[in-house]
Amino acid sequence: MLLCFINLVCSHPYAGASSGIGVETSRVLALRGVHVIMGVRNMSAGNAVKEAILSKIPTAKVDVMELDLSSNASVRKFAADFNSAGLPLNILINNAGIGFVPFELSQDGIELIFATNHIGPFLLTELLLDKMKATAHKSNIEGRIINVASDSYKYTYRGGIRFDKINDKSGYNSFYSYGQSKLANILHANQLSSILKEQGANVTVNSLHPGPIVTNIHRHSPILNGIVTTLGKYVLKNVQQGAATTCYAALHPQVQGVTGKYFVDSNVAELKSHAADPEMGKKLWELNLNMI
Ligand SMILES: NC(=O)c1ccc[n+]([C@@H]2O[C@H](COP(=O)([O-])OP(=O)(O)OC[C@H]3O[C@@H](n4cnc5c(N)ncnc54)[C@H](OP(=O)(O)O)[C@@H]3O)[C@@H](O)[C@H]2O)c1
Ligand SMILES: *[C@@H]1O[C@H](CO)[C@@H](O)[C@H](O)[C@H]1NC(C)=O
Ligand SMILES: *[C@@H]1O[C@H](CO)[C@@H](O)[C@H](O)[C@H]1NC(C)=O
Ligand SMILES: *[C@@H]1O[C@H](CO)[C@@H](O)[C@H](O)[C@H]1NC(C)=O
Repeated sequence: MLLCFINLVCSHPYAGASSGIGVETSRVLALRGVHVIMGVRNMSAGNAVKEAILSKIPTAKVDVMELDLSSNASVRKFAADFNSAGLPLNILINNAGIGFVPFELSQDGIELIFATNHIGPFLLTELLLDKMKATAHKSNIEGRIINVASDSYKYTYRGGIRFDKINDKSGYNSFYSYGQSKLANILHANQLSSILKEQGANVTVNSLHPGPIVTNIHRHSPILNGIVTTLGKYVLKNVQQGAATTCYAALHPQVQGVTGKYFVDSNVAELKSHAADPEMGKKLWELNLNMI
């Protein structure tokens, strides 16, 4: 049985959505016989998702563990617990994210969107990587890491990443900060893919755009939320469609050996030059190491 860890969960039905992309991804993977561990910051919400999945799929293997991606301490505690639990790890899906919030610093002093969407998942991935490599080696089943990014990577600050101003309130724009964090998800995936290829590890890393979906992610932006709740149900994809590309990248045999790619609608898509720039990826890697 493959083991997959997903960070996710949606506590409040909002904008017409009763669950986020991660919840649906967990349900589909569990249906396919994957043992799914959901990392959530709200345990009662996570347990409710687990019960909902089990009520429809009684044979599903689903566990919930506490994880706050915006916190260095929480990510480290989670990884230490996971690594000592003696479980294998075949698939890691970095799904959780926030969008469009007013400027705020995390408890570690990092701008909250960057901390939650990028630095937390980066640290988590680093801490689970040995486990993934060892599982792939032992089982001879390719490991897969998937970063749920967004086409919003196109709408970021001038120059892509505000390398020396990540935590500056001045000039902060919540749309650009969301785009910046999603660009970082893509650069992280591509850079890690190159590193693992060089090491000869049997672990692939890809990123993707789930499509514009009606979920909670828009709730902090009155403009986006208005569009999503009124027009969304006609023009946007639903949550099932939103999870499709993630499930494809996580399980489909066609994706075997494919690494360092960006998927849209279950197809490899071209990236704009700033997201495909290895120099930018290396510079971001340095910044990540400094921040963790
Ligand atoms: N919806 C779209 O149109 C769209 C488009 C492109 C990309 N995406 C990407 O898709 C991914 C999933 O988003 P979604 O649309 O499903 O949004 P969502 O319904 O808001 O789900 C995001 C999930 O992330 C969790 N989360 C937020 N902060 C966290 C933290 N500090 N620690 C742990 N978990 C945390 C949330 O948990 P709580 O329930 O506790 O808040 C929530 O369950 C995101 O990476 C997003 O950027 C979405
Ligand atoms: C956690 O989830 C529960 C159940 O969905 C919800 O009632 C509660 O408000 C959530 N707590 C927070 C802090 O979001
Ligand atoms: C990686 O794993 C796949 C099975 O999933 C196997 O066919 C392939 O030979 C492995 N590749 C390497 C480089 O070990
Ligand atoms: C994160 O936690 C580790 C271990 O407790 C600590 O050494 C490090 O300084 C922390 N980093 C940040 C940015 O707080």
